[in-house]
Amino acid sequence: NMKISIKKEEQIQKMRIAGKLASEVLEMIEPFVVPGISTGELDQKCYDYIVNVQNAIPANVGYRGFEKTICSSINQVICHGIPDNNRILKEGDILNIDVTVIKDGWHGDTSKMYLVGKCKPHNERLVKVTQECLYKAIEVVKPGAYLGDIGHVIQKHAESNYYSVVEDYCGHGIGDVYHEDPQILHYGKPGRGIQIQEGMCFTIEPMINQGSKYCKTLRDGWTVETKDGRNSAQWEHTLAVRSDGVEVLTKRLEESL
Ligand code: MF3
Ligand code: CO
Ligand code: CO
Repeated sequence: NMKISIKKEEQIQKMRIAGKLASEVLEMIEPFVVPGISTGELDQKCYDYIVNVQNAIPANVGYRGFEKTICSSINQVICHGIPDNNRILKEGDILNIDVTVIKDGWHGDTSKMYLVGKCKPHNERLVKVTQECLYKAIEVVKPGAYLGDIGHVIQKHAESNYYSVVEDYCGHGIGDVYHEDPQILHYGKPGRGIQIQEGMCFTIEPMINQGSKYCKTLRDGWTVETKDGRNSAQWEHTLAVRSDGVEVLTKRLEESL
């Protein structure tokens, strides 16, 4: 029973503002992502920036009992890593920071990977291929395309690089509600699922593993890791479907798109 909301121009304008703010958090924090800093300190900086500079709301705080502003997911952590003052970044770590900002009641949700100092080529390659999965998926989004087309291009690019696609977590509709219909699967077949319509807003946020696709949740109830302990990467954007294609609401300055 899917209830997919179609956003009007005025609503998309508000999402454009929220999306831009979320992207700016990821840009602001980048110079601080260095060996020796803790994920707890990164979280505090993002909280302060959203609340005191952006005059916005960190959507993750209090979301289903989560207490932090960002999810900080290092190496074998797939998603939902909890920032911690005792978790210190070290050279060679790969880190995902995932942040959602609410402005004027509307959400922007985005994440990117950070390389901590010099990283091993196999980790750099995982990060790059995962970003390519997101970009290839964004390219297929337009009115009339199918949700299965999105999943298919992600799965094809991941698997042709001998990686696997996490199936237990997916992208989602987003708007004045953080997570709403439809679910955006990161695997699938072309032409399957519902058709994309102008005015839909949703995230694409592929999680790609070096080893098997299987996940486990730690005893903290949040942290999701790969079952086999190998590394995982994720990139996320919030999108609005336009008459002529797609607008990336969380685009950063470094991105062409
Ligand atoms: N931002 C995540 C997503 O992409 C959700 C994080 S929920 C939290 O949908 F509670 F873990 F923060
Ligand atoms: Co999301
Ligand atoms: Co997110």
